[in-house]
Amino acid sequence: MIINLFDLEKEFPNKLPDAIEGYYSSGARDEVTLKRNRSIFDEYELLPKFLKDVSNINTKTKILNLEIDSPILLAPVAMQQMAHADGELGTAKAANKFNTIMTHSTIANFGIDDLSPVHDKLFFQLYFSKDRDFTKNILIKCKKKNYKAIVFTVDAPRLGTRERDERSSFKMPDNLKLGNFIGTKFENFNNIENLEGSSMSIHSDHLFDPTLTFEIIEWIKEVSELPVLVKGILRPDDAQNALNHGADGIIISNHGGRQLDTAVPTLKQIEPIRKQIGNEPLLIVDGGIRRGTDILKCIALGANAVQIGRPLLWGLNHSGQSGVELVLDIINKELIESMTLSGCRDIGEIDRDLVLINR
Ligand SMILES: Cc1cc2nc3c(=O)[nH]c(=O)nc-3n(C[C@H](O)[C@H](O)[C@H](O)COP(=O)(O)O)c2cc1C
Repeated sequence: MIINLFDLEKEFPNKLPDAIEGYYSSGARDEVTLKRNRSIFDEYELLPKFLKDVSNINTKTKILNLEIDSPILLAPVAMQQMAHADGELGTAKAANKFNTIMTHSTIANFGIDDLSPVHDKLFFQLYFSKDRDFTKNILIKCKKKNYKAIVFTVDAPRLGTRERDERSSFKMPDNLKLGNFIGTKFENFNNIENLEGSSMSIHSDHLFDPTLTFEIIEWIKEVSELPVLVKGILRPDDAQNALNHGADGIIISNHGGRQLDTAVPTLKQIEPIRKQIGNEPLLIVDGGIRRGTDILKCIALGANAVQIGRPLLWGLNHSGQSGVELVLDIINKELIESMTLSGCRDIGEIDRDLVLINR
């Protein structure tokens, strides 16, 4: 029986080839950050408020002027068709049904032309290629196809090593395509003979540009003519710097524990980053969010919204688009329960004094 997201996680390894499950589930090196992203939620305790007439709970909120039904967004996750043929198209349709935002990964199986007709609240996640023309063309296309923001991932000047992928010589199955690369020089990205180690670490040499500095945020804004959110920030000074260079929001993330192992768990950094940047700037967080109470804690500490990554893969693998809808249904209902039981009638009432930090 599927009651919570962990029930879906448990099914996941039984239904996929080892190498693919390893790519989706693993973290970098010893996976310390991967585990800490989750375990830290237990160190933060809730202090509920009562007798507040909680007969009506409203989870609606606004992100970059987009009105959405809940503060739970879908994080950019690469190559979703390895989990189910519906892939990113199913995820986008599920996001549309739940009126929330989905971020489309650069290395998705479906391209911008596929997703833009099915959902009008899409962000595009940018891996900034060394090939400026490729990057420029994709940014211009996002604006043309009605994407609402660029999510610029900064925590990947190169790929963090996921040792399970090295051991399995992980490679995307040959029958799948990368939709955003069709017709570009990266089209044959996946044709590698005699692979030793993970194909992802070979690709990252082409796809990531380690020379970038904060000034590039202005360039991305100028070329795309869209708001830019900077994803992968863990420090208050980096958050401030990004905003000083024109960022329209910050996404606190350690890439789900897949880049620098032993990097700080994200929950811990919400409050210091919010303190640094002040009340106004948009602040989103991801990493290990699986329960309604996790979302309550993130928002109480200063986030405007949260993102989920791996759970959408568990849903897709379970039953395609309807599995992603199941994930969104479960976690949204848990959020409503948590708000009801803690005396928060709307997102604005989720205050700092709801959380005690028990360290
Ligand atoms: C299999 C997988 C692929 C991912 N692909 C991307 C990507 O293409 N771009 C990106 O910015 N983040 C990517 N991420 C990171 C997610 O956007 C997000 O930060 C992370 O998954 C959140 O943690 P969670 O999985 O614990 O919810 C990926 C994560 C996973 C698990």
